Amino acid sequence: MGSEQVWQSDHYDSKLGFVSEFGKDVVRLLNPIKGERIFDLGCGTGDLAHEISQAGAYVTGMDLSEPMIKQAQCKYPEIKFLVGNGEQFTLDDKFDAVFSNAALHWMKSPQSVLAGVWNHLNPGGRFVAEFGGKGNVQTIVQTIGEVLRADYGLNDAKLNPWYFPSIAEYSTLLEQQGFRVTYAAHFDRPTKMVDNEQGLQHWLKAFADHFFTALSEAERHDACSRIAVKARDELFHDGSWYADYKRLRVMAIKPK
Ligand code: BEZ
Repeated sequence: MGSEQVWQSDHYDSKLGFVSEFGKDVVRLLNPIKGERIFDLGCGTGDLAHEISQAGAYVTGMDLSEPMIKQAQCKYPEIKFLVGNGEQFTLDDKFDAVFSNAALHWMKSPQSVLAGVWNHLNPGGRFVAEFGGKGNVQTIVQTIGEVLRADYGLNDAKLNPWYFPSIAEYSTLLEQQGFRVTYAAHFDRPTKMVDNEQGLQHWLKAFADHFFTALSEAERHDACSRIAVKARDELFHDGSWYADYKRLRVMAIKPK
């Protein structure tokens, strides 16, 4: 993952396993082949790096979060994992493919990320990624903003840690870097949160910490409860919370 979000790797594995579950579709798009060298950018606790390695590929996983990488290395000792920043990385290795699931929206300098991906791909290599696209978690973002502005006088735009580009914007960045975009899709994926009534609160705790750093623990708790009350009509159905995810999925080739 990226940015200064504090990741709780146990919580990530036990409550947010859907991240890796959905990522299996992206692994299918990657279609790893035996013997290929593949870089997993923002690998989290390593489940998809492991999935990719099952095809016989040699995988290197990198994440900014040290606890995530520790957990990944503990779960999958045979895979090479390292701590590193996706906006600024230099490795000795080159890869046949770079893969990334649910991580790039934490990196607000996409040009730097794409330059790093390009530099680490062999000619003919592919970049396959999925992350939040334009309008991702829009109801949640808007409601956080309303509560922070009205109740705490905070500027939510400055606190927002996420980058959710449109398909046109991101395809253009890929082309400007020199890639040939062979696939791009932007689609809705309403995603059921775990823990029924507490689902949104858990999601905010796991992912939206940045917005609340200026608040005390009690204020944070109140703010999250108010957000849940306001967002309930839109996001709570049939006994569960659903995050209004919109994904951007791309495949791009570095020409030979
Ligand atoms: C996402 O996977 O789309 C996402 C996760 C956490 C925060 C924002 C977006």
